[in-house]
Amino acid sequence: MESDRQIVITGNWKMNKSTEETVAFVKGILPKIEAANALIYLAVPFTVIQPAVEATGGSKLVIGAQNMHDATDGAFTGEIAGGMLKDVGARFVILGHSERRHIFNESNSFINSKIKRALLDEIQPVLCIGETLEEHESGKIEEVLYTQLKESLEDITPEQLAKMIIAYEPVWAIGTDKTATPQHAQDTHRLCRDYLADKWGKEVADKIVMQYGGSVKPENAKSLLEQPDIDGLLVGKASLNLDFFSQIVNYR
Ligand code: PGA
Repeated sequence: MESDRQIVITGNWKMNKSTEETVAFVKGILPKIEAANALIYLAVPFTVIQPAVEATGGSKLVIGAQNMHDATDGAFTGEIAGGMLKDVGARFVILGHSERRHIFNESNSFINSKIKRALLDEIQPVLCIGETLEEHESGKIEEVLYTQLKESLEDITPEQLAKMIIAYEPVWAIGTDKTATPQHAQDTHRLCRDYLADKWGKEVADKIVMQYGGSVKPENAKSLLEQPDIDGLLVGKASLNLDFFSQIVNYR
């Protein structure tokens, strides 16, 4: 049974697509999302944020980024600030994605500082958490996820938390074709929601949108979204394909 929380389905393009491909994709997806009962977000590369925003033509498609730095400006060669993202029309930012944590060694405290900056810059933070295969197999899921939530959300108020999205993405399911079972994803979302309720209060925990990510495909979107604590999806590979992404968005 679905909850009455808003469903949010996000495509994460990672390091893919040119300007031409972006504009064609956005124009192609717009008619397909009209009847969807979900909010649709696309996290695109920095270089195509502006063309993507322009191509949306004020529709309900929300364009965002996949990362940002925690400073407002300065000598940080190769980095990008929240204000710059906002300037080109980004409305949300993915923070703490497992590829940032594992390939670029981002820590919970750095992610925490980026979340605070994004909130100040009025860009909605989408915080990703998730356990590795080793942690999964050694039964450390709770410990890992609670630590990620505790440290990434340190000093965040319930009011600020209510503005965010949390995405549970088990690392072993990302890009592996090994989707978590709907039951595992549900149980983990419940664990996280209970933890949030305990630390930040039941009101915000009941309200916050929690997405599942990791090998989401047209074939498994519906069964995942039918779980009471799964309010959305974070879709990597399948969001690069217009046909697959529109099937996911219209999962019903
Ligand atoms: P995937 O990626 O759907 O390709 O597994 C998900 C993600 O990394 O957000």
